Amino acid sequence: MRQAGRYLPEYQKIRAEAGNFLNLCYTPDLAVEVAIQPIHRYGFDGAILFSDILVIPDALGRDVEFSIREGPVLTPLRHRSELHQLEPEKVTEKLQPVYRAVRQLAAALPETVTLIGFAGAPWTIAVYMIEGRGGGHFSNVLNWAQKDPDSFRQLIQVLTDATVLHLSAQIEAGAEVVQLFDSWAGILARISGSNNQLFNLWCLDPAREIVIRLREMHPDVPVIAFPREAGRYLEEYARETEAAAVSLDSAVPLQWAAKTLPSRTVLQGNLDPIILSKGGDDLQVQAQRIIEALRDRAHVFNLGHGIRKDTSPEYVTELVEAVRSTS
Ligand code: CP3
Repeated sequence: MRQAGRYLPEYQKIRAEAGNFLNLCYTPDLAVEVAIQPIHRYGFDGAILFSDILVIPDALGRDVEFSIREGPVLTPLRHRSELHQLEPEKVTEKLQPVYRAVRQLAAALPETVTLIGFAGAPWTIAVYMIEGRGGGHFSNVLNWAQKDPDSFRQLIQVLTDATVLHLSAQIEAGAEVVQLFDSWAGILARISGSNNQLFNLWCLDPAREIVIRLREMHPDVPVIAFPREAGRYLEEYARETEAAAVSLDSAVPLQWAAKTLPSRTVLQGNLDPIILSKGGDDLQVQAQRIIEALRDRAHVFNLGHGIRKDTSPEYVTELVEAVRSTS
């Protein structure tokens, strides 16, 4: 999950100097510096590239801005007639600064630290492109997907192709594992009710295509998939996408996950970012609970979602010490 970001004063300083957020993402020296900051401070085993999932719509020519108060804001895509303007084969040209950052980061990190590349999953990117933002009722994207599935499929295919190219370029530049963030998978899981059709069409199938195409090109690079709030669809998702690992949001019951998810799937995540932001005994107890529940599984300790900006950096130190002392 997010390691850098607004909870670290050293990030805030660089962010203020860079001014605009996308500037920071597209200036390799700065992106490398903020990606390494948490590694220096905490000695994590993995470093995540500093970038954002919304560089894909930006590279596809959509207007993307990061407002300090509102988060990301995009000019909404609302008409199928605009789809022909999206050219997935052009994204890697525009995103060269990102691959330069990966290359520099790979050279700068200690050899023992794994470099993680990432992208947003097609459904989540489509949500941002069509709604223009992350919250709300999601009625525009849901209406489009349900009323005009043919053109919606066209959009999802553009995003699938762009994602494969973008992740593959990160791997070629030095990423050793890649993570696919489907932060809004839960919207589809909720409306799918007892019928998983919409979830499978727009969340599971594109993830499977991405995993399989990447595996053909880069057989040794694991894909971690994060279908946030997929709920009971997680088992089918893990089985069918064949992702090497799945990230668990904080609502997933761990005993269920340990027993039900395929034994070949590595499990990651689950610690509630709110618990980390509060610190104290409960943080220790919950960290132990996760380690204990996943004792018999291959497991990567992580949060269930991005770190909150009100988190004290000291609590992260305490968490790392607690995890290191037991595993
Ligand atoms: O260590 C890291 O920070 C890694 C880089 C990273 C960022 N975003 C940087 C970022 C990663 C892996 C992401 C993923 C991302 N971005 C996701 C998927 C994970 C998730 O949280 O569900 C999503 C949905 C986004 C889109 C996005 N970008 C949002 C909703 C926001 C605003 C909310 C927030 O937490 O600030 C961003 C901005 C963003 N991306 C920041 C960072 C460090 C904060 C920007 C700032 O400095 O103002």
